[in-house]
Amino acid sequence: MYLGLDLGTSGLRGILVDEGGVVVGDAEAAVATQMPHPGWSEQNPSDWIAACDQVVAALKAAHGAAFAQLRGIGLSGHMHGATVLDADGAVLRPCIMWNDTRSAVEAAALDAMPEMRAISGNIVFPGFTAPKLEWLRLNEPGVYARIAKVLLPKDYLRFWLTGDYVGDMSDSAGTSWLDTGGRRWSQTALDLSHMQLDQMPDLVEGSSAGGQLRSDLQREWGLNGHIVVAGGGGDNAAAACGVGSVNEGEGFLSLGTSGVLLVAKDRYAPAPETAVHCFCHAVPERWIQMGVILSATNSLNWLSRTVGQPAAALAQAVPDRLEGPADVTFLPYLSGERTPHNDADIRGALLGVDISTDQADLTMAVMDGVAFAMRDCLEALRETGTEAGTLLAVGGGARSRPWLERLATVLKVPLALPGGGELGAAVGAARLAICAATGANAQDVMTASEIVETISPRADLFAAYDDRYEQFRGYYRALSSVAKNR
Ligand code: XUL
Repeated sequence: MYLGLDLGTSGLRGILVDEGGVVVGDAEAAVATQMPHPGWSEQNPSDWIAACDQVVAALKAAHGAAFAQLRGIGLSGHMHGATVLDADGAVLRPCIMWNDTRSAVEAAALDAMPEMRAISGNIVFPGFTAPKLEWLRLNEPGVYARIAKVLLPKDYLRFWLTGDYVGDMSDSAGTSWLDTGGRRWSQTALDLSHMQLDQMPDLVEGSSAGGQLRSDLQREWGLNGHIVVAGGGGDNAAAACGVGSVNEGEGFLSLGTSGVLLVAKDRYAPAPETAVHCFCHAVPERWIQMGVILSATNSLNWLSRTVGQPAAALAQAVPDRLEGPADVTFLPYLSGERTPHNDADIRGALLGVDISTDQADLTMAVMDGVAFAMRDCLEALRETGTEAGTLLAVGGGARSRPWLERLATVLKVPLALPGGGELGAAVGAARLAICAATGANAQDVMTASEIVETISPRADLFAAYDDRYEQFRGYYRALSSVAKNR
């Protein structure tokens, strides 16, 4: 048995799978995010541990016999978060998350140094780890002076599980400190951002062993033998392993808190000028390219909080049959945007609201707006020379059929629904554990998921959606010039 742990933005999910990759059970525990100032987003690492305890207890209670057979653990987690520890391994402050844009000024300063893009293959986005450490250096010097290690969120979970400071290539590529082509820390990038090599964890490939479960936890969990903890991956690379996107051109569209359009590459292909992300994959000798938007299901969550209705109820109230673009246009820039704008200051907008606009109109506007932002990602990927054929659709938002039909139509790409797509990152983490524990070849383990349905684009609506997409882009240009003149 293998345990896949996926630390998502809204909660931690654990799944138990057998050697053949079949899911035996799953459990989830929520994790809260604090937003102490506009643009800030933090989580307490102790909440991740509490969630992990809860998930393990639930799995043990429901699947005791299977759990007792555990041989390996794999980890996946939200990327880029800065978890800073002192020399004793104590957490110095809450983790600054991937969608926190407080370090926009520091990010721009680092990004202006040509070496940073050349080494990391990416724009230094405000959400990445390096500018957060610069922000701490300038704003919390007391904390900064005591930082002995910087860990990504899932690597902090590993530290708790194993006692070792270890990171994997795919997650570490989102720090701006990794030589992404060479798959090693870059002394130059560290020097330029005032960091030291000994503040970094050791690196392993996601499918290799990255430690073993601490003996006290092993006893507490009632397990025997060595329990391997795999390197694991950033959530998107792990999800790609979970649905079998590992070879050139294989990819998915993920509707999670963030929205991601990911394509696997068999070579390092950076194109930072397009704001497309280029990271290592969680398996050796592979990379990924991704367009990332900061608020996908988070946009629907925002509407849900605002109108006081559960997000699922809002989605269900949308008519099944797609008739064309919503009357209202929504720009989903609730936390700024990464691809294609790299704009931490831009904020969302609703345009075209009138006296008859109701809740369903706003929901459809949110779905369309996210679809248009994903089209921006697709166009940015195309600029790098990467084409997407059929894309898999994964993440919580993929449960909504009307949303998928909008996305397929706006992107003009068929969307294939893999069975269990919502579990993608946790399955990927478990698959990485299988590789690390058994030495199995990643290509043999990361097989393609069974497709339960394919959503075709509605060609009859292409013209209407193309027009609205052009309008959406025009609205961004207008809004950003207003924001700059403010
Ligand atoms: C990727 C990114 C998000 C997070 C949270 O660059 O920031 O997708 O990993 O899921």
